[in-house]
Amino acid sequence: MSSRNIWTHKGTFLLAAVGSAVGLGNLWRFPYLVGENGGGAFILVYAVTIAIVGIPILIAETLLGRSSRKSPILGMQHLTESHGTSRGWRTIGWMGAAAAFLILSFYSVIAGWAIHYSMQMFSGALAGADASEISASFDTLLASPSLLILYHTLFIAASGLIVGMGVHKGIEGGLRFLMPALFLILLVVLGYAVMVGDAGAALSFLFTFNLADLSLEGWLEAMGQSFFTLSLGMGAIMAYGAYMSDEASLTRTAISIALVDTLIALMAGVAIFALVFGSGLEAGQGPGLMFVTLPLAFAELPGGSVLGGVFFILVIGAALTSAISLVEPVAAWLVERFGFSRPLAVLMMIVGCWFLGLLTVFSFNVWSQGTITHELFGRSPFDVLEFITNILMPLGGLLIALFAGWALTREQVMAQMATNATWFAVWQFLVRFVAPTAVAFVFLRTIPQIEG
Ligand code: PFF
Ligand code: NA
Repeated sequence: MSSRNIWTHKGTFLLAAVGSAVGLGNLWRFPYLVGENGGGAFILVYAVTIAIVGIPILIAETLLGRSSRKSPILGMQHLTESHGTSRGWRTIGWMGAAAAFLILSFYSVIAGWAIHYSMQMFSGALAGADASEISASFDTLLASPSLLILYHTLFIAASGLIVGMGVHKGIEGGLRFLMPALFLILLVVLGYAVMVGDAGAALSFLFTFNLADLSLEGWLEAMGQSFFTLSLGMGAIMAYGAYMSDEASLTRTAISIALVDTLIALMAGVAIFALVFGSGLEAGQGPGLMFVTLPLAFAELPGGSVLGGVFFILVIGAALTSAISLVEPVAAWLVERFGFSRPLAVLMMIVGCWFLGLLTVFSFNVWSQGTITHELFGRSPFDVLEFITNILMPLGGLLIALFAGWALTREQVMAQMATNATWFAVWQFLVRFVAPTAVAFVFLRTIPQIEG
């Protein structure tokens, strides 16, 4: 089976990993975190973390996938056995699969909101609406379990359909069509935003680096975002890495993924803030930036209904190419381990995630208060899920860094990395010392929230 499951071209892994990386993290989360955390200063910390923590771990995770050529769970079992290292490292595979399962369950619900907004925009339902009407419309959406379930079902079924069609026909075929189309849409939206919005204000907000603007909280938030945005620590990159051509360069590919992901986050940031500032709105709106503030800007701008609709199509598409990378690690494991057919394996994964997604759906309405998680942790089931993944992601990244940095020998790494001694030394220093320290800092911030 292994010869069948290699990407068709040397560059397909790059395409697939960029598809996984670019998603709600770039279009929704990055802009609102920048908006909440003082603009340029946040971006500076984020960029440094991507360079010295994100890229080295990205290399390590791809390396584990390609050297095992198996899905994360069996891949880690294989690597620990063949290298004679502790069985404990297998946690990396199990944790990754668990995290992928949890993340997909709420990622799908939130991506579903974009389906709703895309239709609202195209139908002109929000044209000319004022701030209170727009936020009332968001509240109405969240208050309706049946609408949320409908969109969640549509989105997760679409992801399942693509992955169910196989690594080549489904995933590769889907990416080959979706990625260029999405990039084109982003260019159109950016061009529109620069024309009708206030690009000058957006640029100075994004690129005025004043570290004093940044709280400790913002620092740690920037580091957490760099894991999420690169899809690290969840088995997605490892699963895709298992299909990567032996000829492609790990280092060059990882750097390209990080550059493209960052470029797209910045382009989305410029577009969104140009529209928001151009309409005299505020940057620091939190998660509602995309679903309340931005629709308000579109509602007031010429041609805003159509462009708004197009923008939300971009959000749906980008989320879809990320969601399929969350289905793949678990589905591939079910196929390898139990011999299920791929469609059946995918069906099991998405049905499970669909049910888990109901926790998120109900967190915005019937379970927004008074559930067992409110009693135990003072927060909704969705907040608890998100909190758990905020721990699993950096923890997964940490273990990957430690395993690649300390448990693998230089020969084992060099067989995959094929780089010179200097770069190897730099990479090894980063995964051995710098990445673990950075992750420890993220935890110092996250753990005390448990009492929250
Ligand atoms: N990197 C994706 C984004 O920025 O939206 C989110 C994501 C996808 C995280 C896949 C983790 C993952 F395995
Ligand atoms: Na991303």
